[in-house]
Amino acid sequence: MKVSVKVPATTANLGPGFDCLGLALPIYNTITVEETIMPGTGIEINIIDETHEQDLISIPTDENNIVYKAIELLYNSIGQTPSELKITIKTQIPIARGLGSSAAVIVGGLIAANELLGKPADEAALLSIATEIENHPDNITPAVVGGFVVSSLEEDGSVVYSKINWPKDWNITVCIPDYELSTSIARSVLPAEVPMKDAIFNLKHTAMLVQAVNTHDEKLMKIALDDRLHQQYREKLIPGLAEIKEALKHEENVLGVVISGAGPAILVISHGNNLNKIRETVSKVWLDMNVKSKVLTLQVEEQGAKVID
Ligand code: HSE
Repeated sequence: MKVSVKVPATTANLGPGFDCLGLALPIYNTITVEETIMPGTGIEINIIDETHEQDLISIPTDENNIVYKAIELLYNSIGQTPSELKITIKTQIPIARGLGSSAAVIVGGLIAANELLGKPADEAALLSIATEIENHPDNITPAVVGGFVVSSLEEDGSVVYSKINWPKDWNITVCIPDYELSTSIARSVLPAEVPMKDAIFNLKHTAMLVQAVNTHDEKLMKIALDDRLHQQYREKLIPGLAEIKEALKHEENVLGVVISGAGPAILVISHGNNLNKIRETVSKVWLDMNVKSKVLTLQVEEQGAKVID
């Protein structure tokens, strides 16, 4: 028996909502988990890059693979150990760009394995296990449920979340450079503690952001997208970010320019019709720095992970 699950890309933080805001995007990974019949075949992991552009060499294909680790936690939660499994990961989501490629494969592997086991875990259990691997729920939750989501990993390990309707006329332009940045490096530059005034700044802006989305308030959103917890520290790891922000500073209808998750992809959130101009401006800034990029305007994917086979 085998099960395939299609999971969307995700972007986390949206500026101030560090580790708690995220939304799903229409780029997908597909994860297939298959029980192999032949005993003694062990774990087989195959990764297929459907974009033909990625370097997958550093991704482990043994028990250290995060998909396997997530599946192992699920099996352990019901007192079992995975033995003969074939896991196939088809990737379209760019790796190490801040677009939730790891969350997508963790979620896909877990949901597929859960189906194979006869669904012992409910959504809450799957969210907890996936977040135990990923450490923060901001990519995991929208990968599971779709849409724009505020979520929190509680101290007991449970994930609490709420979905909020994203205004249909707010455009998300995803700007993906051809260089990678690992989340662990992007987290290592953050301070362990921040000044109280920065914490308060982010509290205010995250609350404002949720209210702006809820009430479709562009003026409020423009203020809300500011952050002091992570982006200033990460800017040095993302060549072109400062220049892109500067180039779009006076662009009409741009509500904000933020790092996608831990980066290096960048989101331009805007309304109105100047999308070509925005895309051209971003591509040109990077091109002038000899950085190739893909710049795509995408709709929020309202549907989360889906069993397709
Ligand atoms: N909230 C996380 C971060 C997202 O910014 O480090 C990356 O997975």
